[in-house]
Parts: sequence; C-alpha cells; structure tokens
Amino acid sequence: MQNLKSSKTKSFKGIAKIPGDKSMSHRAIMLGSLAVGQTNITGLLESEDVMATASAFNKMGAKTIKNDDGSWSVTGAGLGGLRQPNDVINMGNSGTSTRLIMGIVAGHNIKVIMTGDDSLRLRPMDRVINPITQMGAIVDSNDGKLPLVIRGTNEIMPITYELPIASAQVKSATLLAGLTSRGDTVVIESEPTRNHTENMLRHFGAEIETKKQDGKNVIVLKGSPVLKGVNITIACDPSSASFIVASACIVKNSKVEIKDVCMNPTRTGFFTTLIEMGANIEFKNERTEGGEKIADIIVKYAPLKGVDIPASRVPSMIDEYPILSIVASFASGKTKMNGVGELRVKESDRLQVVVDGLNANGVKTQQGQDWYVVCGNENVRGGAVVKTNLDHRIAMSFLVMGLASDSPITIDDVNTIKSSFPSFVDLMQHLGAEFLYE
Ligand code: S3P
Repeated sequence: MQNLKSSKTKSFKGIAKIPGDKSMSHRAIMLGSLAVGQTNITGLLESEDVMATASAFNKMGAKTIKNDDGSWSVTGAGLGGLRQPNDVINMGNSGTSTRLIMGIVAGHNIKVIMTGDDSLRLRPMDRVINPITQMGAIVDSNDGKLPLVIRGTNEIMPITYELPIASAQVKSATLLAGLTSRGDTVVIESEPTRNHTENMLRHFGAEIETKKQDGKNVIVLKGSPVLKGVNITIACDPSSASFIVASACIVKNSKVEIKDVCMNPTRTGFFTTLIEMGANIEFKNERTEGGEKIADIIVKYAPLKGVDIPASRVPSMIDEYPILSIVASFASGKTKMNGVGELRVKESDRLQVVVDGLNANGVKTQQGQDWYVVCGNENVRGGAVVKTNLDHRIAMSFLVMGLASDSPITIDDVNTIKSSFPSFVDLMQHLGAEFLYE
C-alpha cells in the first residue's frame, strides 16, 4: 500500500477537466455489448471499475477496444447473444458492475460465476438476487454476498417490482433483466434515483417510460427491444467534480472552473447542499447533450455554515456524503445527515469510516444507526493517518481535508483511488494541492 500525505495549500486555482461519469461509462459498455452493431464512446472513464465491466463483457462475447484517437468502440453481441464465460468474472471493487451484470446475465441462458475484492465480497447482493430470482434466474450465493453463481434464462419473466430501498443499481438490474422478456417490466421507486439506465436505454432504441403515480416514479420497459449501436459522449462525473468543488470551498482565496459536468438533477444534491451552506458556486453554459444536462461550474472560497440535510436528498448525493462531511468540518455550526443508513453498505461502512476519520483529525461528531452530525469549526487540527478500507471516496475526501487542516493528513492507500478517478492526484497537484508520497 502506498501512503500519500496532504498538507495545507496556499492557493487552489485553475481550470479542471475531469474524467467521464462512472455510472454512464458502465452503462455505455453494457448496452453497447447488448446492442447489434458498433457503439462509439467519447469521454469514457478509464478507471478500474469501468475496465472491470469491459473485461467481463469481453469474456461474454462482446468486444470493447480503445481507438487511436482515445475514443472507445464496443462491438455488441446482440440482446440475448452473450455467451457463457469460461472463467470466473472478477468485478474487483465495483458494486455497479456486479449488480447490473447480475441483471443482464439473469436474462441470458448462461451460467456466470462472479467474485470481487475484499471490499466487494462484504457488500449485500441479495437486493438484486430478490428481483432476478422472482423473474426466473437461479442464484447460489455466499449468504447473499459474493462469490456467487447465476444461472440465467432466455425465458425471463417480466415483473412489477417496488424497490424496498432507494437504489439505482437495483432498479437498473431489474430493468436490464427484463430486456430479454416478452412483456413489460415495471419498477416503482418512492424517491427518484439516478436515471442514466433509463436515458441510455432510450438512446439505444428501447421503449421506456417514467410516469408519476401517487408521488412515486413508475418506470415501464417494453421487453425485447431492438438495441442498435449508437454514438455516445459521456459528460464529466459530478461525483468526481465534487472533490474539486469541495477543495475550493475550504481553501481560502481559491477559484476553480470545472468544464462539462453532468448536471442530471438525480445527481446534483451535493451542489444544492453547498449552496444552502453559503457556497459561492455559479453554473455557466448550461446545455443538454445526448439527453443529459451539462454545465461548467465556477467555485470560489466563501465561509460556510452547517445545515440539516433532509433524507429525501440522499439518492441525489449518495456518493457525496464523505466529501460533504469534510466541507462540513470547516463550516460554522453543525451539519446533520439524515436517513443515510445506505452509507453502511458502500465500498466501506462509510458512516463509521468517515466518523472515525473526522474524530482522528480533531472533528467532533455524533452518530446513530442512519444519521450523523459533523460539528464544524474554522480550524481543523488534522495530523492523523486515515485508513481508507479499499474505499476510493474515503481516500480522496481525507486528502481534500489535508489541504486546509492545521497539520497534514496521510491516507494509507492511494491506489484505491484508481477505482473511479485515476487522474485525481495529478489534477489536484496541477490546481495547487500539496501532496507528497511517503
Ligand atoms: C450507482 C448507484 C449508486 C451509487 C454507485 C453508482 C449506479 O448506488 O452509490 O456509486 O451507477 O447506479 P445505489 O444505487 O446502490 O445507491
């Protein structure tokens, strides 16, 4: 494991172009693999998680390759055309790859054995096993976790499934399983979760509709569509952008511009919260590309105050709680995160790991099973070595904290950042971050 130390930074300034969105990158490879013909992807995120998806589909008969101009091409196997891999599929650290591929395999007459790293093997997969077994797949798992074996079927049954938890991954897995069925697969969600699967399915030619009924989203997918290869441009990842935005919010006199960030409203809860805290954020050049809203973001330092974040906002900022907790540490007053029990089953138990990391660096907290409070203070002591627990967002969050804390903060494993944002360290240093390998 490689340590990285982050120290107080004098100036954080510049223009940042961050990599493509992780959720959209996974889905572009997945749907490209299920389509007939070739899909060309510009702006694909080249991270370990996304490469795990590409490698899994390459083993199942699709072909994803990088072109000389930096774009990627996927040659699809056609819907129903995936073939049985002749080896175990290792999903590394990636929950999105695992859960969405479980859905896709469910609707194919193949058997797949899946495993993952020490973090992924601790995460619950029963949330996907439930709907796909109702639809006819057979799954043998390690008590609802990896490693598992899925035997899919080409006679998958369409179901109506009301999500027991707000999860885009479970929604997507159920819809993707329903693709090869002959009827309508219906997913009902109480809180809107990210809708990239729905947007991208439409882009590939599927008939999919979202209606509001009694305040809930009812998503209806017509089975057996003809999916045809398309051209896709992937916008920059708002979850990756959040680390740059947060740095500018806590380093005095900073000013950063971030280009072409995906502003899909199911992803922008972090920005809404920062604005409520008093952040100086401007959105410029707002436009729609490939069915997704995009904007450039300009952030300048401003003193912030703590806020109470409603549980209804959780899905739209689910991955941003670690970095928001860092920002909240430097704000005046308390910030309360409500309804965040799902954080306990991410790449690490993020609620506990964040609270432990904050406490080790001199920040006071309070916590319950599904909530926590960060007690902010303009001066954060810092000085600790933070255990990242194979969690890329924990690693990046505490590196950001070190930019403004009194003493440097060290993380114990910089390599974990490659899951989602391999260029993070270089990009941050380019903007002025004081990082040192130890
Ligand atoms: C993702 C959905 C979210 C998020 C994950 C990516 C996706 O998980 O935390 O990083 O691409 O669908 P849940 O939907 O399980 O909350």
